[in-house]
Amino acid sequence: MSLPTPVSSVSTPAVGAIQPFQPALRRTSWCNQVTPQAVGQTVVLNGWVSVNRDLGGITFIELRDRTGLVQLVADPQKNAGVHAVLGSLRNEAVISIIGVVSHRPEETINPNHPTGTVEIYPETVTVLNRSKVLPFQLDEAAQVDEAVRLKYRYLDLRRPEMYKNLQLRHKLAHAMRTYFNAEGFLEIETPILIRTTPEGARDYLVPSRVHAGSAYALPQSPQLFKQILMMSGCERYFQLARCFRDEDLRSDRQPEFTQIDVEMSFVTQDDVMNTMEGLITEMFKEADVHLQRPFRRMTWQYAMETYGSDKPDLRFGLEFVKLTEVFTESDFAVFREPAQKGIVLALKVPGAASYSRKELDDLQKDAKRFGAKGLAYILFTEDEGMKSPILKYFSDAEKQAIVDKVQPETGDAIFFMADVNFNKACDVLGRFRIQFAKKHNLISPDSHEVTWVVDFPMFEKDEATGALSPCHHPFTAPKPDHLHLLHTAPEQMLAQAYDMAYNGAEIGGGSIRVHQPELQEALLKVIGFDAAAAHDQFGFLLEALQFGAPPHGGIAFGMDRIAQMLTGSDSIREVIAFPKNNQATCLMTQAPVAPAPAQTKELHFDWVLPEEEESKA
Ligand code: AMO
Ligand code: AMP
Repeated sequence: MSLPTPVSSVSTPAVGAIQPFQPALRRTSWCNQVTPQAVGQTVVLNGWVSVNRDLGGITFIELRDRTGLVQLVADPQKNAGVHAVLGSLRNEAVISIIGVVSHRPEETINPNHPTGTVEIYPETVTVLNRSKVLPFQLDEAAQVDEAVRLKYRYLDLRRPEMYKNLQLRHKLAHAMRTYFNAEGFLEIETPILIRTTPEGARDYLVPSRVHAGSAYALPQSPQLFKQILMMSGCERYFQLARCFRDEDLRSDRQPEFTQIDVEMSFVTQDDVMNTMEGLITEMFKEADVHLQRPFRRMTWQYAMETYGSDKPDLRFGLEFVKLTEVFTESDFAVFREPAQKGIVLALKVPGAASYSRKELDDLQKDAKRFGAKGLAYILFTEDEGMKSPILKYFSDAEKQAIVDKVQPETGDAIFFMADVNFNKACDVLGRFRIQFAKKHNLISPDSHEVTWVVDFPMFEKDEATGALSPCHHPFTAPKPDHLHLLHTAPEQMLAQAYDMAYNGAEIGGGSIRVHQPELQEALLKVIGFDAAAAHDQFGFLLEALQFGAPPHGGIAFGMDRIAQMLTGSDSIREVIAFPKNNQATCLMTQAPVAPAPAQTKELHFDWVLPEEEESKA
C-alpha cells in the first residue's frame, strides 16, 4: 500500500464539526495491518470509535474497522486540538485519522491482541459522523435481549463475532462456487414468483394485481425448476437459492432461508453422493474442519433403531440394542405387544445407576412429554445388584437375555422403550440418547461427524387417517427393486433418497427423481392426487417428462444451517444478516405490516381478520 502524502487541506476541525469525506481521508491500511512491521509508517485509518477512555488526562481510543482494533492516543501536551476532538467523541463516532505508527511503551503492551504492541498518536482527526448514545453496548450484546439486537441489527452486525459469521458464510459460498465451477456445474437462477412447489410446508402467497383472484407462491424450493433444467439438457445445475416456507419456527429454521441447490443428469445415487462429499469437504475446510472421505453411510432403518434419529449424532456412542425378539412371548404385556407389532429397544447409560429417585421420576415425565407411555429401567448397583420395579415381570431367561445382549457393568442403567409404533419408539429413545449425552458430557466440542442416511421409506402414514404422504417429496424415485410394491404395499417401499447429517443435524437431503411420466402419475395417485388433480397442479411436469427427460437426481443443503453449525452458533439467526424472529417478524423494519388500502384494492384483496371471523361466526 502506498503511503499517503501529508495533506495540508485536512486540518483538525473545530470540536464537534462533521467533515465531508474526501480522497485524502481514504484509508491506507485496515486496522489489523497496523502491526509492529508498520512502525514508523504514516497511515490513514477509517473506522468507528469503539472504546474511549480518559486515563490521567490522556485519551485512549480503540479505533475499529471490520478487521480489528487499533489504539489511538491523544495527549493534550502534544496535540491539544486532536486531544480535544478525540476526547469529545462518543462510542461509534466515525472518524478518519492520519498518524505515524509507533511502539507502545512496555507497560501498556497487550500481547493477546494482534495490534497490541503498537499505537498511533494521530496528527489529524476528521470526524465523519457522530453517534447518539447506543441502545446497547456492543461488547455487552450477549446479555442484551435478542429483540433489541434484531431491532438495531446494523449495530449488532458491527460486532466482530457477527462480522466473522458473515465472513465465514461468504467463504463457504466462495468455496462452493469454486468447486461447482471446476466440476462443470452451471449456476442458474430460477424464479421466485411461481406456482406452488410442495415441500411439506405452507406456501407464502403473493396476490396478483393483473390476474384478479390469483396468486403466485414463493418457492419452498426450486425443486421442479431444477428438474425441468435437466429436461432442458443443462446436465449439472447449482444455485444459492432462497426458499420460503411458512412453518413453525425453531432455532434452526427460518421462514426464508438459503439452500445450496443441486441437480445432475445421468447419475446414480452414488454419483450424487460422491460429488457432494467433495463439495462439503471443500466447504468445511473454510472453517478448518477436515473431514475424512468417504463419509459413513447407513440405512434409515439402522439409524432409527440404533440412534433413534434419521440425523444421528455420531459424536458419542450410546447405541441402542434391539430386544424385540426377547419379548415376543413375554408375560410383561408392556413389552410383549410392541415386540410382536413394533419394537423394543434398550439403551445402556454408564453411570446412571446412581440416578436419584427424583431423576428417575423426571425421566418418566419426560417420556410422557415426548409422547411415550413410559421409560422402564434397570439399575445395576454395587450394593443391591439389579434393581427395578419391573424385574418381577421378567423371567430368568429374559433377564439373562437382557444382560447378554446389553452387557451392563456395575454402575450402569439400562433404559427401555417399547412401542407398537416403530418410529415413535425410536424417536423418543433418540431424544433420551441426546439428553443423556448432554447430562454425562459425552459430546466433545471438537468432533465433527458426518454421515449419509440412505434408504428412506417412500411414504409416511398418517396414523389417524391412514393417508400416505411422501417422506421426501413427490418427485422422489423408489428403489428399483421396490417398484413392484407400488400397488400392493406402497408403505413398504424404500426411496432412492439420501440425507446428510452432521453432528446430529440434517444439513442436506435429496433423491434420484422419477423421470418416467407414468410412474410419476402413479406415485402422485398414491398420495391422493387423482389424474385430474395431478394434471391440474403438475401438468407442466408430467408433460415435460414425456419429451425425453433424462434420468436425474439432486440434493439441497441448508446453507444457513451449515453456517450455524460451523460457527457454533446457538441459533440460525446468528448467521443471517437480517433474520426474522420466532414470530416471522423482521424487528428492524417491522415487516410484515398492513398494506395501504390502495394496495389491497389494486390487488383485489379483501382481508378477513381473525376478530372479524369471530364476530361473523
Ligand atoms: P429439504 O426440504 O430436505 O429438501 O431441504 C434441504 C435442506 O434445507 C434446509 N432447510 C432449512 N433451513 C433453514 N430453515 C428452514 N425452514 C429449512 N428447511 C429446510 C435443511 C434441509 O436439509 N428440494 C429438496 C431437495 C432435493 O430433493 O434436491 C428440498 O428442499 O438443511
Ligand atoms: P406400568 O406397568 O405401566 O406401571 O409400567 C412399568 C414401567 O414400565 C414403568 O417404569 C413405565 O414407565 C415403563 N413403561 C410403560 N410403558 C412403557 C413403554 N411402552 N416402553 C418403555 N417403558 C414403559
